[in-house]
Amino acid sequence: MGNVYVFDHPLIQHKLTHIRDKRTGTKEFRELVEEVSALMAYEITRDMPLREVTVETPVAPARCKVLAGKKLGLVPILRAGLGMVDGILRLIPAAKVGHIGLYRDPETLEPVKYYAKMPSDIEERDLIVIDPMLATGGSAAAAIQMIKEMGGRSIKLMCLIAAPEGIKRVHGEHDDVDIYAAAVDERLNEKSYIVPGLGDAGDRLFGTR
Ligand code: PRP
Ligand code: URA
Repeated sequence: MGNVYVFDHPLIQHKLTHIRDKRTGTKEFRELVEEVSALMAYEITRDMPLREVTVETPVAPARCKVLAGKKLGLVPILRAGLGMVDGILRLIPAAKVGHIGLYRDPETLEPVKYYAKMPSDIEERDLIVIDPMLATGGSAAAAIQMIKEMGGRSIKLMCLIAAPEGIKRVHGEHDDVDIYAAAVDERLNEKSYIVPGLGDAGDRLFGTR
């Protein structure tokens, strides 16, 4: 069964509070999402393997560690997932970025697919699917399924806020996928928005409605 990891670092929690606040405007919202994503990337990559190399310092040779070359891939779910990409790339600039286009039909709440493009060496990469909101879990579960059908093998899911319903659905359909979140909220409301959540992530990121 997949695990759920909640990042309770004080900086993440502080920034998430401002992200939730309805008075936070688009510019600040976008900057904060980027910052929290970078902090979460720092936590999510803790288990990346290292190897030893020798470098010459101005004083002497030194045995040091560098990343062991395990390749990463980020897969934002369009469109709100895009808001998290740059923050993560700041820490992991060599990661390749695939894209999954999905939106949640407002009536049926089922995900509607419209785009998919993955790195050519998808089988070799550790993939992080990114989306700020895990609500019913329909979008994330469908995105993961699409990625698996395109050859993805090692998949993590990273979101800002997860609802218990979304966690249950993703793990019900993909028990090999660990979920990383900055918060797990109470529940979904009658429109399947996360309560208390942050509202519509895509609209707040891009200033639409
Ligand atoms: C939002 C969000 C997730 C999805 C979560 O996207 O970014 O992708 O809803 O809901 P679910 O867990 O119930 O599927 P939305 O469909 O609003 O599209 P957008 O990113 O284009 O705004
Ligand atoms: N999508 C959002 O952007 N917010 C929610 O609360 C649920 C789905």
